[in-house]
Amino acid sequence: MKKYNNIDFNIKNINEDVELYGWASKVRNLGGIIFIDLRDRSGIIQLTINPDSSCYELAEKIRNEYVLKVKGKIKERLNKNPNLKTGDIEVIVSEIEILNEASTPVFELDKNDALEDTRLKYRYLDLRRDEIKNNLITRHKIMMCARKFFNDNDFIEVETPILSKSTPEGARDYLVPSRVNKGSFYALPQSPQIYKQLLMIGGIERYYQIARCFRDEDLRADRQPEFTQIDMEMSFVCEEDVMNITEKLFKKIFKEIKNVNIKLPLMRMKYCDAIDKYGSDRPDLRFGMEIIDVTELLNKADFAIFNNIVNDNGIINAIVVKNAADKYSRKDIDVLADFVKNYKANGLFFLKYNEEFTGSIAKILDDNISKELIKKLKIKDNDLILITAGERLIVKQSLGALRCKIAKDLQLYKNDDYKLLWVVDFPSFEYSEEEGRYVSSHHPFTAPKDEDIDKLLTDKENCYSKAYDIVCNGYETGGGSIRIHTADVQQKMFEALELTKEEIKDKFGFFVNAFKYGTPPHGGLAIGLERLTMLLCETDNIKDVIAFPKTSSASCLMSDAPNEVDIKQLQDLKIKIEK
Ligand code: AMO
Repeated sequence: MKKYNNIDFNIKNINEDVELYGWASKVRNLGGIIFIDLRDRSGIIQLTINPDSSCYELAEKIRNEYVLKVKGKIKERLNKNPNLKTGDIEVIVSEIEILNEASTPVFELDKNDALEDTRLKYRYLDLRRDEIKNNLITRHKIMMCARKFFNDNDFIEVETPILSKSTPEGARDYLVPSRVNKGSFYALPQSPQIYKQLLMIGGIERYYQIARCFRDEDLRADRQPEFTQIDMEMSFVCEEDVMNITEKLFKKIFKEIKNVNIKLPLMRMKYCDAIDKYGSDRPDLRFGMEIIDVTELLNKADFAIFNNIVNDNGIINAIVVKNAADKYSRKDIDVLADFVKNYKANGLFFLKYNEEFTGSIAKILDDNISKELIKKLKIKDNDLILITAGERLIVKQSLGALRCKIAKDLQLYKNDDYKLLWVVDFPSFEYSEEEGRYVSSHHPFTAPKDEDIDKLLTDKENCYSKAYDIVCNGYETGGGSIRIHTADVQQKMFEALELTKEEIKDKFGFFVNAFKYGTPPHGGLAIGLERLTMLLCETDNIKDVIAFPKTSSASCLMSDAPNEVDIKQLQDLKIKIEK
C-alpha cells in the first residue's frame, strides 16, 4: 500500500529510506545519470538513478507516464529547485518496479496548450494536470466546509430521489422511461425543491444536501446540464434568517479556501435598484461604471431620435468609462455598438471629453446641456461616455452587459477581489411572450411579500416576492426564498399563473395535498457548487471545476454519451424511435 505522499518529505528527512509510488512525469538522461520527476496527487519529487545502480538498466526503459514503485534514500540536492515543494531534496533510487507502462499521452501534461475537445476526450489525462486536479481539491474542500458548517448548525443531510417527478424550476426536464410502468416517465430533478419542502412538512426542520440537479437547457460558460447544489431548507424562519446563515457559510468558505475575510452583513440591494444601476440582477460591483439616467437632460436637446424615444416612454441612459477616451478608436466603438445589438439595443451613441465634447452626438449638446451633463456624470478629461436610448429594460440590459465587457477588456478588476451581495425584493412574476402569460420569476412556491398577497390576481406587475439571490462578481451563486405555507395563498398563486385544476393536480397534486396536514412556515436556498468553485478557482469556465463535464451540446466526448441504445432495450420500454 502507498503510505507516503511525495510532498511529505523535505530536508528534515535526509538519509531516510522511503518507498514511493507514482507516475513518471518527466524523464531526463543527463550524461549517464537518469532523473525522473515522480508525480503523485500531492506533487513531484525528483528521483535520481546513478549509472552504478543495479536498477539503472530498468530505469532506462522508463518513459513518461509509466507507473512506478521505487525504494531509495532521501538526500540533499546540489541544484535546488525553488519552484518545487520538494526542491531541496532528491531520492537516490536503489530499487524500481515498473507497475505499468503507458502509451505516449496525446497532449503534453505539463503544458496548457491542448485543445479543449482533446482534453475532454482524454479527461483522465487532463485530471493529472495540476490545474484541474487543484480545482477538484478546492471543490472537495468547499463541500467538506459546507457539510461541517451545516452539521454544526443542527442541520441534517437527507438524500432525495433522483428518479422523481417534474420539479418547478421551469427548465426542460430530463426524462427516464419506466419499464415496469410502460409509457410513464420519471423526471430527473431540476432541484430537490418539492422534496425539501415535503421534508419541512415532515418535521425535519433543518435539512441540507449536496444534491445533483439536471436541467435540459441551453448551455453557457457557467451552466451544465448536470450540476450540483448545496441545498438547504429551514422551518420557522423569515428571509433574514436564511440570508444570515447563508452568508455565515460563505464567510467560512472564503476564509478557509482563500483566506479572504468577507465582511458581514452583506449588502442587500433591491432587484429594481440592481436593474437600474447595473442593468442586471447579478451586478458585478468590482468596478464602478454605474448606469446613469440622462433622459430628462438629453431630451432637452433638439434631437429627433431622443425626443421620439422619450415620447414613446423610452429612456436615455449613459455609462462613463473613466480616463479611457484615448483607448477607443472609432472602430473600437463600432465593435461596442455591435455588441449592444445582441441585447436588442438599436444604437450606441458616444461622447469623448477633452475640454470639450467630441463624438457622435457632440453636435446636439448646447452649452447648458454640456455643463449639466459634465456635472451629472462627473465627467473629467479623457472620459468616454456611452449612451443608449429606447425601451427601459433593453437600455438597462445592454448598458449592463456593456459595462461588464469594457471592464473585462480594460482589466478593471481582479479575479480574486470578491464583491458579494444579496439581491432582494424580486418581482413575483415576469411576462412570458412565448407563453402569452405571466410566469413565476423564481418558482410557484415562492411567497409573495405579505403586503402584496392581495395583488396576486389583480396587480401582478407590482407584486414582489420573498426571494433572494446571493451574487458574487457578476455570478448568481445561489438563490432561494421563503415559501408559501398556506393552502389558500398557494391556490391564489396557481390561479395567478393561470394553471388549470387539472394541471395543478397532475403536476403538484401530491404536494398541494400535503399542505393540508400542518405545514410550518419555511424557506431555504440553493448554492450552485460549480459557480462557487469557479469563483474560488478564478476560472470562468464551468468545465474546469467538474471532473467529467459535458460539452455545450450536452455530450460527453470521453464516453460518447448520449448514445443510441440496443433495440431490445427500446422494445422493453415500448419505445419506438422516429428516424
Ligand atoms: P435556482 O434555479 O436559482 O434555484 O438554482 C440555484 C443555483 O444553482 C445554480 N445553477 C446552476 N449551476 C450550473 N448549471 C446550471 N444549469 C445551473 N442552474 C442553476 C445557480 C443558482 O443560483 N430550488 C431552487 C432553490 C431554492 O429556492 O431553494 C433552485 O434550484 O448558482
